[in-house]
Amino acid sequence: MKVGILTGGGDCPGLNAVIRAIVRKSIRYGWENIGIENGWKGLMEIDTRPLDLNAVSGILQKGGTILGTSRTNPYKFKNGEKTVIENSQKIGLDALVAIGGEDTLGVANKLSKAGYKVVGVPKTIDNDLNGTDYTFGFDTAVNIAMDAIDRIHTTAESHHRAMIIEVMGRHAGWIAMHAGIAGGADLILIPEKEIKLDDVINIMNERAKRGRTFSIIVVAEGAKISESDQKNSKLVTQDKKLDAFGHVRLGGIASVLAEIIEKKTGIESRATILGHIQRGGSPTAFDRVLGSRFGVYAVEMIKAGKFGRMAALKGAEIVDIPIDEAVSKTKTVGEKFYDTAKVFFG
Ligand code: F6P
Repeated sequence: MKVGILTGGGDCPGLNAVIRAIVRKSIRYGWENIGIENGWKGLMEIDTRPLDLNAVSGILQKGGTILGTSRTNPYKFKNGEKTVIENSQKIGLDALVAIGGEDTLGVANKLSKAGYKVVGVPKTIDNDLNGTDYTFGFDTAVNIAMDAIDRIHTTAESHHRAMIIEVMGRHAGWIAMHAGIAGGADLILIPEKEIKLDDVINIMNERAKRGRTFSIIVVAEGAKISESDQKNSKLVTQDKKLDAFGHVRLGGIASVLAEIIEKKTGIESRATILGHIQRGGSPTAFDRVLGSRFGVYAVEMIKAGKFGRMAALKGAEIVDIPIDEAVSKTKTVGEKFYDTAKVFFG
């Protein structure tokens, strides 16, 4: 049995733990592993490498992915699906483990419907994949963001400033919520909860009234904010270009907010955009363990012929769900959780 392993989309800490686990578990069954380079691009171009025990030795604690990644979408190419299927046959793959978020798994889902033997492993720092309680990479991103918030706290306090910290997460506020609550933010702004500028300003002024001379605001890159008299709010994007999966590059809302807050409250404000720091470096213990469990489970799924399905964390257990379900919608922050966060606002 020859099992391919592919990592696609944005990298995240824990990917190497999954790759290592798949190889380790495959060896138990006497299977061979082939690493596909740079996501779906490697299957479009037949760019592979053998993965044996030595190839995955010493990678558990390393960030990124030893296989490289890309945002290549085979369905953007003429005969892309056919190319992937034919190239997989040429390589001699019996099955593939696709490790990725909604885009990579969206491709896996379409291929699976065309009869391709693929199982999925949920990866993204955004934690926005449906059907799994957590994706690996998220915990590391949250801890990096929390650490940054802690550091920004001391300088905010010294300078009596409003510090606006922008975190990633695309159209979901999971990183902002977890890092914001853990870091003791005075306000958290997320895409799921549109907020009027006046409400932000009121919270800042209330804090000032009770003698708090600094504020920490955590804002998700996909949050939308509008003037009180405006009905439609806008996303702040870095440019208008779309990637192969139709996403715009978000980023910059913290700077926009800092300027407005300073103008409207007179409080000196600064923006910090954490950016790709959240995706880099060594995974936390949680992500190493979750990635290892997902990797082992993916091999079990192949053994059991559970194709078109994705490993998922439900409570404390690893289970499998249809990839279809995972990519059917974005998992977003619910009302109840936000209400809890609001207790700490102001
Ligand atoms: O999906 C992961 C993510 O880090 C998002 O949070 C972010 O919007 C996006 O990827 C950034 O993508 P890129 O690395 O292509 O700039």
